[in-house]
Amino acid sequence: MHSLVSPHGGSLVRLLAGEQRAQELKELSRDWPSLALSARQQCDLELMLTGGLSPLQGFMGPADHAGVCERMRLADGTLWPIPVVLDVAPSRAEKLAVGDMVALRDAEGVMLAALKVAQIWERDLEASAEAVLGTTDRRHPEVATLLDTGHRVVLAGRVEGVQLPVHHDYRELRLTPEELRRKFARLGWRKVIAYQTIRPMQRAEHEMTRRAALDAGANLLIHPVVGMSQPGDVDHYLRVRCYRALLPHYPPDMARLSLLPLARRLAGPRAALWHTIINKNHGCSHFLVEDDHAGVRLSGEPEPFYAAGAAFDAISAHAEELGVSPVRAERVVYLAHRRCWVQKHEVPADARVLEIGDDELDRLLARGREVPEWFTFANVARELVRAHPPRSHQGFTVFCTGLSGSGKSTVANALRVKLLETGGRGVTLLDGDLVRQHLSSELGFSKTDRDINIRRIGFVAGEITRAGGVAICAPIAPYDSVRKQVRAMVEPCGGFVLVHMATPLSVCEQRDRKGIYAKARAGLIKEFTGISDPYEAPDDADVVIDTSVVTPEEATREILLYLESEGFISADAERGE
Ligand code: PPS
Repeated sequence: MHSLVSPHGGSLVRLLAGEQRAQELKELSRDWPSLALSARQQCDLELMLTGGLSPLQGFMGPADHAGVCERMRLADGTLWPIPVVLDVAPSRAEKLAVGDMVALRDAEGVMLAALKVAQIWERDLEASAEAVLGTTDRRHPEVATLLDTGHRVVLAGRVEGVQLPVHHDYRELRLTPEELRRKFARLGWRKVIAYQTIRPMQRAEHEMTRRAALDAGANLLIHPVVGMSQPGDVDHYLRVRCYRALLPHYPPDMARLSLLPLARRLAGPRAALWHTIINKNHGCSHFLVEDDHAGVRLSGEPEPFYAAGAAFDAISAHAEELGVSPVRAERVVYLAHRRCWVQKHEVPADARVLEIGDDELDRLLARGREVPEWFTFANVARELVRAHPPRSHQGFTVFCTGLSGSGKSTVANALRVKLLETGGRGVTLLDGDLVRQHLSSELGFSKTDRDINIRRIGFVAGEITRAGGVAICAPIAPYDSVRKQVRAMVEPCGGFVLVHMATPLSVCEQRDRKGIYAKARAGLIKEFTGISDPYEAPDDADVVIDTSVVTPEEATREILLYLESEGFISADAERGE
């Protein structure tokens, strides 16, 4: 007899309608109002429909919400630490009434579920933040999300599922609680330890999870979160490729991998408890919890917001009621001289410990250096290298900003020719005049129009960079904030180099090749940069060039040297060898 841990509340909730009923709901929905779900709401709904949030059968009303906030319990007394609510804009809520049926749809309009509105109520966002997250400080990212994007008005009611959200990626790895439970039963697993992670796993995590499974006498479920991600998370495609590569390194039949469509809440101990419940619903009797589980660090504060170990303590305090055993994750480190992994507390006083942090790993990959074998398995390293080609193989953008006549176009053209001479990447010049002719012909020179123009250039440059090419941009781009937006758009795609052509206005005006400064001074051209319109000099330029003191050749060489020092081009290429 197999006896996996029971679902929370006793039985697994199944909210997906059969084929016939789903068809009927779709037909009926033609007369219902629709609600397009946010990414977070869609994740919550998906987990709810599959029973991952058992015993929840719908979105919470005020009684459940109050119980959760005040006592971590639903109105019927069931342990539940995190509110699961369907908030809506007040203008949408005004058109709804209790008793209405609402079609819940994904962003493309596909109907996922029907909601019978049982209550329309208002929550106190600040009180909810204080109770669940322990603060109303907006430096806490979850607080900022709640207070800045959450609505007070909330719909409550039961949901009936029409279909699960469509995922085109890794379908075979997205196992529902029912599917996982069946799989565990087939494999003869009874004790299962879940490792829910949002990060790539290297040898240290492999060693830690392997030991935890052995110590607990359990099998291991690697259960990475692939729902809505938070800023800074590594994209899930790369993570899943790495987890897959890691799997064969566990002892035979010890571990399996399944993806969890969860929208995480960075709520420290409460989130840890919630994740334990969700994993319990997926058939896991043990939960491996790291000291910083669902933790946050508030900017300017030296310590994490939630105390180390608070997550473990929160689960431990309710372990008996839950029927799930928390396992505190013991970090392991690599001892250089002994060439082995040990738990942190076992490290001898004089031992040399090898460690590679996230930033150092990024640096190694960016420079095309080898990732050491002790740090990660060779097949995982291959995936990391594939996803992070060295900078010499990445695309980049050189964004020249400066006054009209500051030498942007001349230097941009010379740079283009130099890069074409050495070859290896396609080079695209997005010169101010050219862009205005082809991309932005309807725009003028107001701040709004200039910002639109620069954002368009940034978008195109980002796509070129992503595809491994070089984009050289040469607009005036007089405003700092939009230049920073462009940097933020392009940097995730490859390199971004801001070049400030800092040639003084007097020199630009004296040159006046196009005769436009004279026209601007005469008032014939309005809003002219430097004369009757502002130019905000950048404070974040990577290269500053004043063409009143250097020749275009010297300016170009300076940019090439910078590109070389950052690893985007090799010294040989720069010399044209
Ligand atoms: S912006 O601010 O970045 O959107 O400007 P940009 O697209 O680079 O266009 C600048 C060129 O347009 C000509 N021009 C003006 N420049 C500044 N202010 C006003 N009002 C203006 N009207 C026309 C000018 O010739 C710029 O060309 P460059 O190549 O910079 O000399």
